[in-house]
Amino acid sequence: MPTTTWNRHHILSLADFTTAEYDTVLQTAASFQEVLSRRTKKVPTLQGQVVANLFFESSTRTRSSFELAAKRLSADTLNFAAATSSMTKGETILDTAKTYLAMGTDIMVVRHREAGVPNAIAAEMDRLGVKVSVLNAGDGQHEHPSQALLDLFTICTLIDPDHPRLELLKGKKIAIVGDILHSRVARSNIWSLIASGAEVHLAAPPTLLPKLFAEYILEEAGDRGQGAEGDKLLLASPISHFPSPSSHSPNQKLFLHWQLEPALQNADFVMTLRLQKERMTAHLLPSLREYHQLFGITRAKLQLCKPNVKVLHPGPVNRGVEISSDLMDDPEFSLIQSQVTSGVAVRMALLYLIGSGKV
Ligand code: NCD
Repeated sequence: MPTTTWNRHHILSLADFTTAEYDTVLQTAASFQEVLSRRTKKVPTLQGQVVANLFFESSTRTRSSFELAAKRLSADTLNFAAATSSMTKGETILDTAKTYLAMGTDIMVVRHREAGVPNAIAAEMDRLGVKVSVLNAGDGQHEHPSQALLDLFTICTLIDPDHPRLELLKGKKIAIVGDILHSRVARSNIWSLIASGAEVHLAAPPTLLPKLFAEYILEEAGDRGQGAEGDKLLLASPISHFPSPSSHSPNQKLFLHWQLEPALQNADFVMTLRLQKERMTAHLLPSLREYHQLFGITRAKLQLCKPNVKVLHPGPVNRGVEISSDLMDDPEFSLIQSQVTSGVAVRMALLYLIGSGKV
């Protein structure tokens, strides 16, 4: 394992992650990837610790991935699913968390359909003065840090398998396409990709990428001092339809498009996002067929990208909507399966980093 100093107690958001933290996660995940390639895929690192997966919202890959990661680190795991829990009898979220605390839980992995629930549980644990760490496994439309970190790891290991690091993405063009409005995955990825120095192009219909979104990102980035000269986040004029590449200043890092083509032009990586129908409160799209025609990623549309472009999707996928079914299954372009595989090593790294030193 790389020797490292890690001071973060909870992992709730990537908004204030430092380059050193990204690199520590990437290098630690690379070490665990190596462990996972051995015949015996288990290490005793978190022996005696309890990891509770508190999933108040449905999940397939994130929950299983955290569970497997904890088991491979030799932790004891507890799995909670809201539908079969005492919440159906009226127990509150914080009382549920305190129940797991009373059983000796060291790390709580929390997913909830409302933004801010992992933060609220972390605040309660801090108030109680206990050493429990909280890891956000997706909260509403807010953030999904472990997904963005596994996306980062998947891309970086493709570029340099032995030494994945943030700077490998400097100058790369990355398109994030689809339901950005409702996507916690997009929000976390925007932080990590901007921190890497990549050029991030968001593309969606205006109903799924409102101007407000851009203002929010710019405001947040400004609060973090990222608006300083030489490290600017700018919009392509201000929300652009087909900005010509020559209109981009060298400092521009974040672009918004209401058409797909300018985002795909010469892209190195394309991240597609699921249409989050469960979070749509209004009729935001004319039809799924039209959406696929305009924003669905297909082989033909990839012709606009760099020749060795790769496509990512966090899953679950609406086949034939945000990505064509054949492209999704084509290992020449699709990184979807390696994202899932990377997820275990990355989550082992996160659990290790916040969990080691607890016992
Ligand atoms: C994502 C999520 O739940 O936020 N999926 C995941 O964790 N792999 C994205 C989605 O649901 O579309």
